[in-house]
Parts: sequence; C-alpha cells; structure tokens
Amino acid sequence: MNESSSNPGGIQLDRIVFFGRTLSEYLKFFDLDLSQWQGTKILDCPSGAASFVAEATKLGIHAVACDLLFNLDEKVLIDKGKADYDHVIERLAGIQYLYNWEYYGGLEGFKHFRKRAFDRFAQDYPQGRQEGRYIKAQLPKLPFADKSFDLVLSGHFLFLYNNYFNYKFHLNSILELYRVSSKEVRIYPIQGMDAKPYPLIEDLIRDLSNSGICAEIVKVPWEFQKKSNQMLRLTTTTSKK
Ligand SMILES: C[S@@+](CC[C@H](N)C(=O)[O-])C[C@H]1O[C@@H](n2cnc3c(N)ncnc32)[C@H](O)[C@@H]1O
Repeated sequence: MNESSSNPGGIQLDRIVFFGRTLSEYLKFFDLDLSQWQGTKILDCPSGAASFVAEATKLGIHAVACDLLFNLDEKVLIDKGKADYDHVIERLAGIQYLYNWEYYGGLEGFKHFRKRAFDRFAQDYPQGRQEGRYIKAQLPKLPFADKSFDLVLSGHFLFLYNNYFNYKFHLNSILELYRVSSKEVRIYPIQGMDAKPYPLIEDLIRDLSNSGICAEIVKVPWEFQKKSNQMLRLTTTTSKK
C-alpha cells in the first residue's frame, strides 16, 4: 500500500485502546529528565497499559497511574490489552509510511516495545493496585486533592482522540489535570490521529490563560508519527499557592 492509493491521513481505530508505552518512550515524548523530578510525585493520566509507573517506582519515584479501566481485575485488562494490541498492529501495518521507524527499527521492534510495556504493566498491576498506584478515574474528574502531584503527564489520549470529545471535555479535563498538579502538566501529542494539531488549540490556550495558566506548545525530541512532535506544557503564570 502506498501513500497515494490509501491516503487515510492517520491510523483509523475503532475505539480508545487500552495500550501503553515504556518509560524510555515517555522520556522522549514528554522531553522528561527524571533526575529533575527525584523525590517528587508524578501522575500518569490516563496510563492505559503503559509501564511508566511500574518502571518509575523501581527508580524510587512516587508515581501513580489512573485510568477509566483500573476498577477491572488483571485478567480482564490483559484480555482487553491483547485485543487492542492486535487491533492497533493490524491498522498500523498498512500505513507504515506515515511513521518514522528509526527508534524501533521497524514494525517488529515496535511490537517488541509494546509487549515489554504491557508485560511490565501486567506484572506490577495487582500489587500496585493494592498499594494505591493504579486508581480508577474518569476525566474530566479526578479523585485527587488539589496539588496532589508535582508533575502530571497525559499521553496519547486527549488531543489524539479529539474526535471522541468536545471542546468542553478538553478544557475541563485539562483544568482538572492542572488542579491536581503543583508544578507542571505535560500533554502529548497536540496532534490528532491525522497528525494535524488540535483545531481549537489557540482557543484552549486563551481560555487557560484567562484562568491564570500558562500553556505553551513545546517541541519534543520524538516524532514517531510524522509531524506529531509537540506537547502542550502547562505551568502557572503566578506561583501556585
Ligand atoms: C492509549 S491509552 C493511554 C496510553 C498511555 N498514556 C501512553 O502514552 O502510552 C488511552 C487510555 O485512556 C483511557 N480512557 C478513556 N476515556 C477515559 C476517561 N474519560 N478518563 C480516563 N481515562 C480514559 C482508556 O481506558 C485507555 O486506557
């Protein structure tokens, strides 16, 4: 299949998938230097089947994952994760020209990363749930007190699936992510599945600014999907008290 014969613009998924990436990928697409966040609390929302929290915990970081599905037990999540993995790989296989493959070395390498993330997540989930590191939450509301976390990360959800949600959902969800952070929120990517920036990003930045939040589009050292190389970074315009 080539660009001109299919031209879908991006991956076409049937649903929001329970899927996730590894800590090494998180460091790239959030342009994150964990040495600057030692001794802090980090929230991954929504985490999906990412292994960021499992791996960060081993590095001594206080990290918490939340997701709509974290009321489910391990077996149900594993079955959903496997079905969603098959769905993504099947859809991705036909549109590989829309992606840069240097990091993974090709589709097989990408699958290897996905399995690694999933295995680490699945291994950590039962005990992590008991320890309060995997918590059910449904945006636009989060079950955490104000400023519970220093840094809040939100990957491959909000703008990526922007056709599933309206502007109000995006604004309220981002205000909520900000409410539970004391320092910073990073949201990657700002592009949708078609690699085009979220069409209302300027309205969003203005509305956040009117709430005293500084929102800026920042380039990141990651461009797996071509042109998806920016995150939205929120900080406060005045010191958060
Ligand atoms: C693609 S995964 C997240 C991937 C992960 N953050 C990463 O970058 O690898 C998207 C997740 O969003 C969750 N989700 C869908 N709607 C949600 C909502 N309203 N609130 C919280 N999580 C939601 C789904 O259950 C799914 O696990």
